[in-house]
Amino acid sequence: MADLTGKVALITGAARGQGEAEARLFVERGAKVVIADVLDEDAQKLAADLGDEQALAVHLDVSDPSQWADALAAAKQAFGQVNILVNNAGIYFQGAITETPLDRYRKLIDVNQIGVFLGMQTLAPHMAEAGGGSIVNIVSVSSFAPLDLTSAYASTKSALLAMSKAAVGELGPLGIRVNMIHPGGVATEMGAPSGVVPTEYDKAPLGRIGQAREIATVAAFLASEESSYCSGAEILVDGGWTVGTRNPWTATR
Ligand SMILES: NC(=O)c1ccc[n+]([C@@H]2O[C@H](COP(=O)([O-])OP(=O)(O)OC[C@H]3O[C@@H](n4cnc5c(N)ncnc54)[C@H](O)[C@@H]3O)[C@@H](O)[C@H]2O)c1
Repeated sequence: MADLTGKVALITGAARGQGEAEARLFVERGAKVVIADVLDEDAQKLAADLGDEQALAVHLDVSDPSQWADALAAAKQAFGQVNILVNNAGIYFQGAITETPLDRYRKLIDVNQIGVFLGMQTLAPHMAEAGGGSIVNIVSVSSFAPLDLTSAYASTKSALLAMSKAAVGELGPLGIRVNMIHPGGVATEMGAPSGVVPTEYDKAPLGRIGQAREIATVAAFLASEESSYCSGAEILVDGGWTVGTRNPWTATR
């Protein structure tokens, strides 16, 4: 079990969904967490639930460089340093290329792509000074196996994948590991809006959609010293969805 005792983690988009599951699990495993999100009320509620000693809610729009500086300052003031950064915040858009408004596409780039860049840009010098750290970037199976109607979203995740890999060589010598998680479908507001889960998930090898906690356990491993020689790892957490097409003869046997 990944032990996070004594660690401080800044988790973006932690007010709900996978980020919330990560914040809850990291605290269970001994970490202090900074819940960074634009959903202030939800973030404050979660922090109160986890307790003042363990959690701090900060307002952070990941696409704004000055808010990143403020979030780091608040984290340092509360907990002294940050050893773990989980770049989890993200937004989704589903629509045909001909139906995708350019401003929506630009917003996806700002949050999913530039938001992570700013996170690494802000935190890496601090982590290096603090003796190293672990960055976990929540990418997506869309980065390498994009579905139709996701050209805008998937392209931001492909950019994030390339950016994360480029960061591995750059930050490794500073003692900072950079690893990636590729969730498949996860039952959050993004993956199952209003709790609706498409029946297509039955066709995945594991026959169901994933749960946020199933991403969080992998994030905890990558954040912890258990993964001390992992940098540049890409962990698929998709129930087998992207391994390949299932054998068309299986159903006839
Ligand atoms: N749910 C899925 O099926 C799925 C699949 C693959 C990858 N992902 C990725 O997993 C990550 C988490 O998504 P989720 O499923 O928990 O979705 P979610 O919509 O439940 O949570 C996303 C969180 O990010 C926050 N956020 C949005 N814009 C922000 C901004 N500008 N600054 C700070 N926070 C912001 C939201 O307020 C929310 O709390 C995302 O990066 C997403 O792209 C999700």
